[in-house]
Amino acid sequence: MPESYHVDAYKVEGKIDYDQFAKQYGLKPIDPELTKRLEKYTGPLHFLLRRNIVFAHRELDWILNEYEKGNPFYLYTGRGTSKGMHLGHLMPFMLAKWLQDKFGVEIYIQIPDEEKYLAKKDIDMSLDEIHSMAMDNVLDIIALGFKPAKTKIFFDTNYANTMYKNAVRVAKHITFSTVKDAFGFTNESNIGLLFYTAMQAVPAFLKSVEVGHNVPCLIPLAIDQDVHFRVARDVLGKLGYYKPSIIYTKFLPGLDGTSKMSSSEGGNTIYLDDPPEVVKKKVFRALTGQQATAELQKKYGGDPDKCMVCQYYRYFFEPNDKKLEAIFKAERNGTLLAGEHKAALADTINKFLKEHRRKKERAREKLDKFIVSD
Ligand code: TRP
Repeated sequence: MPESYHVDAYKVEGKIDYDQFAKQYGLKPIDPELTKRLEKYTGPLHFLLRRNIVFAHRELDWILNEYEKGNPFYLYTGRGTSKGMHLGHLMPFMLAKWLQDKFGVEIYIQIPDEEKYLAKKDIDMSLDEIHSMAMDNVLDIIALGFKPAKTKIFFDTNYANTMYKNAVRVAKHITFSTVKDAFGFTNESNIGLLFYTAMQAVPAFLKSVEVGHNVPCLIPLAIDQDVHFRVARDVLGKLGYYKPSIIYTKFLPGLDGTSKMSSSEGGNTIYLDDPPEVVKKKVFRALTGQQATAELQKKYGGDPDKCMVCQYYRYFFEPNDKKLEAIFKAERNGTLLAGEHKAALADTINKFLKEHRRKKERAREKLDKFIVSD
């Protein structure tokens, strides 16, 4: 990986070069041939796909081949817990929900509550505390509208009988040297985290174990999770299961223009529980790349690619391509000034969050329909 950025499961830093990442790890671009095939089943594509925010895949073409042969897939994704989820965390789940609706397929959602317990040296939280934080994350996920009859959500510690039995089968095929190379573990790393990747592999073949024959699996994720599945794909092949297919979303950038909205850099990150005033304050500090004065802006215009307000519409808040282009145009020709531009985005975000919180409250009553344990 070039010096300028770093992406792995436990650290994301610098300015991410997605094309370089794809090339280095052998991901394929989502090309027009593939989107045309997808569209045959889904109708108009989700804007994340249309805008190349879902930018790469592994063997999505194979998933469609199998689908066409009458061998449908299931979806799998997951969520390592954090105190509060932010907007960026929702993106792979929004994609997953869309895929669930369009293909009418099941989804398994893993909540590895032990992972953050093991990974975070700096937070001194008990497993129980992490567990209740995770429960709040689950409500945010359910709020996106997953279908209860086709969605299984499980916490590793509460589904241990099923998970552990299968994880040891994976772990037997992963050497210390493999995880050391893949994750950058050292002699100081704890052994729980060394084992953890085997737990994350399990839901990628769990359905096959349950039904007694191989079922294709498609995993929507952000690129920091790829490393787990580079390891897992090798092992699952050895165990006689299908290798899971993957589609990759880019990270929602931070409001300051950094590559990734980060949980630890609160000022550039919109959390799902940020009150309206806080959202406004943060959005008003966003990087717009506009000229120094309104006069100059009117004269020279701005650059939508550098303006984070424009980018937030592109990544999240304006699904309509024509409306998005109108916003970009107004930015380019200088008719849209930073103040009103930011005020409008803050408003849009606050409306979204208000609605999200309403759905989250309702999700509480439905929890039992989603969560499985053993
Ligand atoms: N490790 C992921 C995280 O830290 C959580 C996760 C578990 C996951 N299984 C997954 C993410 C499958 C994507 C796909 O957030």
